Amino acid sequence: MSSSVDQIKSRIDILTLVSSYMKLDRAGASWKGRCPFHNEKTPSFFVSPDRGSYYCFGCGASGDIFSFVEEFEGLDFKGALKLLADRAGVVLEVYTSEMKEKESEKEKLYRVMEEATKFFEDNFPPKADQPQAEKGKKDAWEYLKARGLTEKTIKDFRIGWAILDWRKLYDHLKMKGFADNEIEHAGLAKRPDKEAGKPDKAMYDRFRGRVMFPISDSSGRIIAFSGRLLESVPTPEGVGRPTESVGPKYLNSPETPIFNKSSVLFGIDKAKESIRKNNFSILVEGQMDLVLSHQAGFKNTVASSGTAMNDKVFSKENIINNLGLICRLSKNIVLAYDADKAGINASNRFAKIALSLGMDVKVASMKDGVDPADVISKEGKDVWREAIRNSKHFIPSMLERIIKDAKGDGRKVGIGIKERLLPFVNNLESSIEKSHFITFISNTSGIAEKALMEDLKKVESELKSETEETEIAKENVEKKMRKDPIERRLLGIAFWQEGVKDKIIEPELIFKKLNKVKEIYKDIKEDLIYEAEAFYSDSENLKKDVDEMLLSIEEEYLNEELVKMMMEIKTLKDGKQETEILKKISEINKRKEEIKNNKNRRNI
Ligand code: UTP
Ligand code: MN
Repeated sequence: MSSSVDQIKSRIDILTLVSSYMKLDRAGASWKGRCPFHNEKTPSFFVSPDRGSYYCFGCGASGDIFSFVEEFEGLDFKGALKLLADRAGVVLEVYTSEMKEKESEKEKLYRVMEEATKFFEDNFPPKADQPQAEKGKKDAWEYLKARGLTEKTIKDFRIGWAILDWRKLYDHLKMKGFADNEIEHAGLAKRPDKEAGKPDKAMYDRFRGRVMFPISDSSGRIIAFSGRLLESVPTPEGVGRPTESVGPKYLNSPETPIFNKSSVLFGIDKAKESIRKNNFSILVEGQMDLVLSHQAGFKNTVASSGTAMNDKVFSKENIINNLGLICRLSKNIVLAYDADKAGINASNRFAKIALSLGMDVKVASMKDGVDPADVISKEGKDVWREAIRNSKHFIPSMLERIIKDAKGDGRKVGIGIKERLLPFVNNLESSIEKSHFITFISNTSGIAEKALMEDLKKVESELKSETEETEIAKENVEKKMRKDPIERRLLGIAFWQEGVKDKIIEPELIFKKLNKVKEIYKDIKEDLIYEAEAFYSDSENLKKDVDEMLLSIEEEYLNEELVKMMMEIKTLKDGKQETEILKKISEINKRKEEIKNNKNRRNI
């Protein structure tokens, strides 16, 4: 395993990699740019080609090519490994039958999702002479054609068909060697509730009689499905849909160990390249909107469909998480949600947070009751292009709507501005922008700037708690993302060594030092073990590296401690306490000196 990691490392240098995601300028031996992991105006993000690493002085983000891809793309280590292997042309090991024993639960889930995708897409295109039982395939195929999808699009997006029957997929997956548990955990089949005294009932497919849209993470692994009901397919007697209800129009996969609804956008794997190149993204609601927008040439489109963003209650953290990757790829976004009440509400909630992340938010204007899929398939891609081209910044476009709704009543315009518009102005991240839009609103509505500013102040204090909530959500997301690379590498080694017979490293040695943070990493334990093994299973450097990392982490902790004490000293009045703290500081500095000498000795 370590050979693929080493091969990747030798073929992809950090400078080329990071430059493919963002702009870097030369700064002596290093390169610098604006940090993609926190919002900043002046560059404090440095890449060092010599050391093969990056470091941000603003937020502390740091690491190597693997951690950069993980953080930027929102992937786990294995996802980053796959993406970098593809890029470097390195073939990762394929699981042989003996190795399947060792395959982790997550890996099995990825494999079962891939198998299910193949099974669904194999139904297309339908064969010419259809037996009666397979009639649905043809209906589904014709339905997609009628919605304007080309055969190429159906193939590219791997759209498939789940036959209207009880356990076609289940039987197929069993035949392929998957266990009931795995199929259930992947959210592909359900187990009926057990009735007392009766034998277990058979499992049945979750998706039946639906057009299947696979959802991928940014490295292209299938992690979920969204299945659209096809009402036109008649239910055969005794199978398929329960008679009383056909279920929702779109049925989505449940949350699973590989599908976290709060951190994925439909189409992101196909859109990211184009978002970066075109320097803006288009956000739509539905899968049809997305697929047709790509087909019309807008490959920078992503959809919130099937993910937590379409849930009625979505938390701010969810939205920030979802926006994360597209925001890192480009700060410019065009919202193209359905022009109905639900669409407008969702779009507003979204815009508010995107504005507070410092994004430039525009809105594509569409006629009432119409969605992007309608525009593209009925009016053509030129009309869609115009809608995107004519998209307006969120604030002016909201102002336009307010003026329209007021129907000439000036008082209503004033109320509308205070209630519906100023809350968004309040969310703008930059004060320059705020002042710019206040002038703009004043010029358009005729209301004096001074009056607008007074109202904005009121709105600001009324919404103080909401603004704080957003700030906390932002911090939480950053904290979750920001895991210290040395801590995680060390803990990975300790978790791994804990489970092997001939230990090279005593795990307790590491746990003792990292006791405080061990808990935070528990939920990604499996990933960490995999990562540690990938890096060190064939390596002779394990012991030496661990010793070095233990020193580095101690140094890091000592520095944190120092900063804390410096702060404390500033606020102290009592001379006696001061002497004590100064004594501690000198001890810390002494230990730091020791570590430094120790490290130097090793390097000789
Ligand atoms: P819409 O109701 O606007 O569906 O829901 P649509 O995309 O226009 O549907 P088509 O074009 O008739 O196929 C927008 C999105 O909300 C999610 C889906 O992702 C859908 O694309 N949704 C909708 C669900 O998750 N479940 C539902 O029951 C309905
Ligand atoms: Mn729609």
